[in-house]
Parts: sequence; C-alpha cells; structure tokens
Amino acid sequence: MKTEERIIMGVDIGGTGIKYALVNSVTGEMLTERFKKATPKPATPQAVASVIQEAKEHLDWNGDIGCGLPSIVSNGVALSAANIDNQWIDLNVNEFLSKFLNCNVKVVNDADAAGLAEIKFGAGKNINGVVLLLTIGTGIGSALFVNGNLVPNTELGHIKFKKDTAEKYASNTTKKQKNLSYKEWANRMNKLLAHLERLFTPSLFILGGGISKRYYEYSDYLQCNADIVPAEQDNAAGVIGAAMAFYA
Ligand code: BGC
Repeated sequence: MKTEERIIMGVDIGGTGIKYALVNSVTGEMLTERFKKATPKPATPQAVASVIQEAKEHLDWNGDIGCGLPSIVSNGVALSAANIDNQWIDLNVNEFLSKFLNCNVKVVNDADAAGLAEIKFGAGKNINGVVLLLTIGTGIGSALFVNGNLVPNTELGHIKFKKDTAEKYASNTTKKQKNLSYKEWANRMNKLLAHLERLFTPSLFILGGGISKRYYEYSDYLQCNADIVPAEQDNAAGVIGAAMAFYA
C-alpha cells in the first residue's frame, strides 16, 4: 500500500454517540460520510464493540480501525471511564477490540485524537508553542500540544474547579441541564479558560466537540489572553484523528 493510501476506519466513541467514517489517514480526508450510532446504555465494552461491528459491516470494511475513547489510554489499556461503563477500566482495549472485531484496532483518548487531526490539518496547523484543544460535549476533553507534539491524556475536564470538576461546570451537558444561555455558558467558559491560562499560558485555544458547530453564537462573549478559534473540522476531528492515531 502506498503511504498516500493509508485508509483506516476512524471511530469516535462518545458518551452520547459513536461516530465513524473511512479516512485517508495521510491527508486527513474523510472518504465516506461521517455516520453516527447511539452509544448503548450501559456503554459496556461488549455493547460498544457490537455497535462498532455493525458500523464495520455498514461500511463493508475489513481493514484496520483507529478508535478514540473517553478514557485515559496508556499503551492500549483504559485507565479511567467517564460517560462510559466502568468495565472499561484496566481493560486492554487494543486486544479486546482487535479480537472482537477480528482486525487490528488501536485506541487513544478521544480528545487526543481530535487534537491530532486539528494540529495536523486544522486550526492548529503550523502553530508552534503551547496549543490547547478542548472538546466540549457530554464531558470536556483536552489535548495539549507543545510545538506540535502531543502531551497525551491531560484530562483537564477532570481538574477540580468551582467546587466540582471543570467538565461538570462548563460542558455542553451542563449547559443543557441548567438551561444556560450561550452568554451564561460563555461566562463559565471564560472562568475555566482563565484558570487554564494560569496553568499553561497557551498561545492558542481550539474549541471542538459538539458545541464548536455553534461557535459564532457565543464567540463574542468569550474572553481570554490567548487566541481562541473553533475546531476547523467541527465534530469530525475525533473520527479523523482516531484514524490518524492508528499510525501515530
Ligand atoms: C473524559 C475524557 C474525554 C472527554 C471528552 C471526559 O469525561 O474523561 O477522556 O476526552 O470526556 O469526551
């Protein structure tokens, strides 16, 4: 296979939906539509693997798969589980999914996957220094880059913040549950961004995840010292980056 033809099925396992597409992992191009299936409840490894099997059959795909999982992932082993079942914890996900799906599967943290796509092909392209991508959806994920290199598993959505965690304070789920307007939600986001600036002094924040699609409805309310931009690949970055991570 020529390098420019490294086609991988990218799968983004989220707390709400499992998104997938075939991706040219060299160019970052999606070769199919980005499809979505509901995340099973409870989202056990077995139940999620069955959905990926259906997705694989839907795409008629027999090749390799790259997956993003909302979990700390170290050498293919999940070390946490947020918005998915606790049975994932300590599971060697690479081995489990490869066996279940009968192909080679490589798993990384979902926000790290989205970050890989944005730093190579999207809003973080050619940006040096410290870049912090936040994916804002069911939870808050983070991908920290220094001169284009990923510092994996930062999980900044789980830092203690305002008597709770950052993700409980400012995720899209919280916005919906508390019926916050964009202005009210952006005020919360500004407090979180200010805290993250004190910790990392990034030159750029990239906001991704479900809420990035509506960026221009709240961008006027966002304020911080660093530049802020929406993810260029919207919510597709997770799928594209999951495929790229297969060879990373
Ligand atoms: C999880 C992270 C994930 C983020 C976005 C958080 O709750 O802990 O691993 O990146 O949600 O899905």
